Amino acid sequence: MRTVVVTGSASGMGAATRARLEADGQRVIGIDQRDADVVVDLGTVDGRAAAIAEVTAMTDAIDGLVTCAGVAGLTDRPGGLLTSVNYFGTVTLLAGLRELLARGDRPAAVGISSNSTTCQPEVPMAVVEHCLAGDEAAARAAGDVAGSVLTYPATKLAIARWIRRHAPTRDWAGAGITLNAVAPGKVDTPLLAETRRDTMIGPLVDAFPVPIGRSGTADELAGVVHFLLGPDARFFCGSVVFVDGGTDAQLRTEDFPAPLARVTTEYR
Ligand code: NAI
Repeated sequence: MRTVVVTGSASGMGAATRARLEADGQRVIGIDQRDADVVVDLGTVDGRAAAIAEVTAMTDAIDGLVTCAGVAGLTDRPGGLLTSVNYFGTVTLLAGLRELLARGDRPAAVGISSNSTTCQPEVPMAVVEHCLAGDEAAARAAGDVAGSVLTYPATKLAIARWIRRHAPTRDWAGAGITLNAVAPGKVDTPLLAETRRDTMIGPLVDAFPVPIGRSGTADELAGVVHFLLGPDARFFCGSVVFVDGGTDAQLRTEDFPAPLARVTTEYR
């Protein structure tokens, strides 16, 4: 039986992913701040350490890891909180559970990014840089200055870049672990409902073009995550899979794929 750790398992895409995996006969260890096997606050250093320690005490190996835990950018929510929950709550778990993954069977990790990375303007790059430098205090400070509405895509861009930096390295690809990101667009979950209620960002959410004409469902996203965790996705490495009803394709038609600007042959 495969064992998969899912953060943010109490709601939305994390809960849908848990349900899909369990329906498939897989064992899920859910991590969340409520209603989970491991109840912690991933926005804190101690909470992340406790999550890694508890999972390590429960099993010698894991076959999958999905990092769904995250919070939305809202006008009255500090940006620093998003750097801690969304970014550090993701990459600390990826790094901290990597050794358990390396001992798993055809192990796979999937991080949840967002199409706000490419579709939302004015991303504060200082937040991205401090996140990727691993400087949580500086990232929090820059996030507080930018506010959480703009910090949100910065945390998700940093997640995507962390994944692309690490996926093709000895520790991940070289250890037989696939590492990829999913970048959802608008998906009907409690997080989206909360965002819609925000008087500033709410109206903008529904003004966003979605060419297929509707929001996604948590179950549709769980289906993509389930595929990336499974045997048919072993050739995926460092991909950022946009699942957004066509928003990114419509807004950035010619920006991707971009031709190679410089050659990196170094294998770290
Ligand atoms: P959700 O609000 O339904 O689920 C998020 C889960 O994360 C909740 O169970 C919550 O308790 C948990 N969580 C939040 N803060 C936590 C903390 N400090 N410690 C531990 N757990 C914590 O949200 P949804 O929509 O399912 O989001 C899943 C991921 O997808 C998030 O990372 C979100 O940013 C991302 N996303 C969501 C989109 C959407 O339209 N719903 C679009 C793009 C990305």
